[in-house]
Amino acid sequence: MKKIILIGLAMACFTMSYAQKQFFKAEKMVETGVYYYPEAWNPEQWDRDFKKMADMGFEFTHMAEFAWAQIEPTEGVYDFKWLDKALELAAKHNLKVIMCTPSATPPVWLTRKYPEVMVEMPNGQTAQHGTREQYSWSSPKYRELTTKVVEAMAKHYGNDKRIWGWQIDNEPSHYGTLDYSPAAQASFKVWLKKKYQTIDALNKAWGTPFWSGIYTDFSQIEIPNAGRQYSGNASPTSFVDFKRFNADECASYVSLQNTILHSIVSKSQFVTSNFMHGHTDVDPWRNKDLDFISYTMYPVAGYSDGVGEQGFRMGDPWRISYANDFFRPLNGVTGVMELQPGQVNWGTYNPQPYPGVIRAWLWNAFAGGLDFICSYRFRQPLYGGEQFHYGMVGTDGVTELSGGKQYSQFMKEMRDLRKLYTPNAQMPKEYAARKTALLYNADNVWETTIQPQTFQWNQVTHVTKYYSCIKTLSAPVDIIGEDRDLSSYPVVIAPAYQMVDRALIAKWTKYVENGGHLVLSCRTGLKDRDGHFFEAQWADAIVNLIGAKIALNDMLGAKMNAKVSYNGNTYLWNNWGDMLDPMAGTDTWATYADQFYAGKASVVHRKLGKGTVTYIGTDTDDGKLEKDVLKKVYESAGIGVKELPEGVMLNWRDGFWVAINYSSVNVTIDIPQNANILFGTKELTPAGVVVWK
Ligand code: GAL
Repeated sequence: MKKIILIGLAMACFTMSYAQKQFFKAEKMVETGVYYYPEAWNPEQWDRDFKKMADMGFEFTHMAEFAWAQIEPTEGVYDFKWLDKALELAAKHNLKVIMCTPSATPPVWLTRKYPEVMVEMPNGQTAQHGTREQYSWSSPKYRELTTKVVEAMAKHYGNDKRIWGWQIDNEPSHYGTLDYSPAAQASFKVWLKKKYQTIDALNKAWGTPFWSGIYTDFSQIEIPNAGRQYSGNASPTSFVDFKRFNADECASYVSLQNTILHSIVSKSQFVTSNFMHGHTDVDPWRNKDLDFISYTMYPVAGYSDGVGEQGFRMGDPWRISYANDFFRPLNGVTGVMELQPGQVNWGTYNPQPYPGVIRAWLWNAFAGGLDFICSYRFRQPLYGGEQFHYGMVGTDGVTELSGGKQYSQFMKEMRDLRKLYTPNAQMPKEYAARKTALLYNADNVWETTIQPQTFQWNQVTHVTKYYSCIKTLSAPVDIIGEDRDLSSYPVVIAPAYQMVDRALIAKWTKYVENGGHLVLSCRTGLKDRDGHFFEAQWADAIVNLIGAKIALNDMLGAKMNAKVSYNGNTYLWNNWGDMLDPMAGTDTWATYADQFYAGKASVVHRKLGKGTVTYIGTDTDDGKLEKDVLKKVYESAGIGVKELPEGVMLNWRDGFWVAINYSSVNVTIDIPQNANILFGTKELTPAGVVVWK
């Protein structure tokens, strides 16, 4: 019986990924497109613009995500004539179209007639008309009006062969604002009641005996608002629940549209949405119901110094790779729906990207297994909130900017590469042997943000630091949820996995006993799913698994440094350190070299069954300790790694190797003598790319 269910499940998974893959032709590997806003340009220029796109090498275009006011100029009256015309002209130039639902930008008739649909910000102010994403996911009225416009669009375009697929909304999020509107307040109560059933259960989970926080009825609860709690909050768990609720509301709003579209449009049209990479208020993984989930990506906007003096023009070397590995493993399909075209306007400062780096980003997207890449945007806007934002062409509408030229070059290279495509190329053995799963759970981000314990703690930075260490050892990575099967990954890393339950620990233990190599880092296993400590010894949940007790933890100020010794080297740290007491059979790999706990273990390692467990109790800023320890984990498991120079990315895809240099200095890539170099050379300048077979 069990076997039959398992076979059934496997078949269901197979059918699903087959169905999702059918939107893309494997031999094309990656298809490239660009955003266009017909509603913003003189209709007489549309033909010229689409022709230019096609001449540059683009294969699809993308439209309508902000055009609700033009699609439904007055309530219930739809105007598709202009969009039909744009579609016709795109098709004339052989451009497929991604059509979008326009729900991100409600028209003024809507916001004036139904003001209750607006988000209420944490300070009690209601969001204004004239921005975007200012509607409440919880508003029944907004859901009703969304349903109508999406149905109208789906009926009009659902069987149109020119439409490749659909994008729902735009970057579903509130761009960092949380919603306290009456609709959200009401929906939160319903959500809590469904989760807890009884108010006693809620009181228990929220720990309300603390500071007299006890509730006697669900109707008394309001959304926790840090801005109104000037002396800390009684219940961190209530905040985690609000974050969970917020992410669920977003997901259910996207699902509402997905269900409408799928019930009307042809099966040959895909349905996706473009989530913002790295935005943690919402959780894209909650929308597994979409055909696939795509992401948006802007590497250079003043937020990363990158590597070396010119790094700020190239971005964090692992940003695109991380997004690829975060969105692709969900169902094997993803694409970047928006990729930065050049200088942007909304960063803390907006430098020019390094010459050639846009092409490098495109190759990075290819190398990460993406099925499509779409540039944001074709023309530089002449007016509106994004005036300084580059396009593929400049303000005259015809002159290709540097980004446009780089796209053209990449698209030409991709057409050449397709000629060398071989179906079902097998991943090279030594590369596959390093396949690593990085476990992620949004709960851990939310929980540690609410109770960081040191202002220096940043869960996302901690996770991405581990990610960059693994990539520097040139391992292929899947970032996955804890529910996924781990057995195909020789190495699994769960960084600062604070919230656990006994079932998860049992799953990890079994994974190791069967031969897996598990790495855990500081803060793992401290709390249960309600965010409570275990009523047992510290970190009791993982003590037997890691073979060590955790005596205490410490942290220092940002300008101070304490020391850890490992393999004769000294490493500096100040964010978080766990002092470990290894039990019999557990080896100490690194020890604290100063402070009152000098000599205590910082990193421990043990064999368990056929596998190993390593616990890295110290969090460093530069990640050097973590990288060196991980290297030893792979090597002592008999897995060969290839350590790359800082800022260099190496990936394999469909039979091709791609290396990119994100550093500010020239590097030499180690390429086998007999390799066939297709683009570039093994000497890579900054932003250089080399592709070989
Ligand atoms: C994205 C957004 C686009 C556009 C772009 C500008 O985050 O989805 O609509 O605003 O930024 O860089």
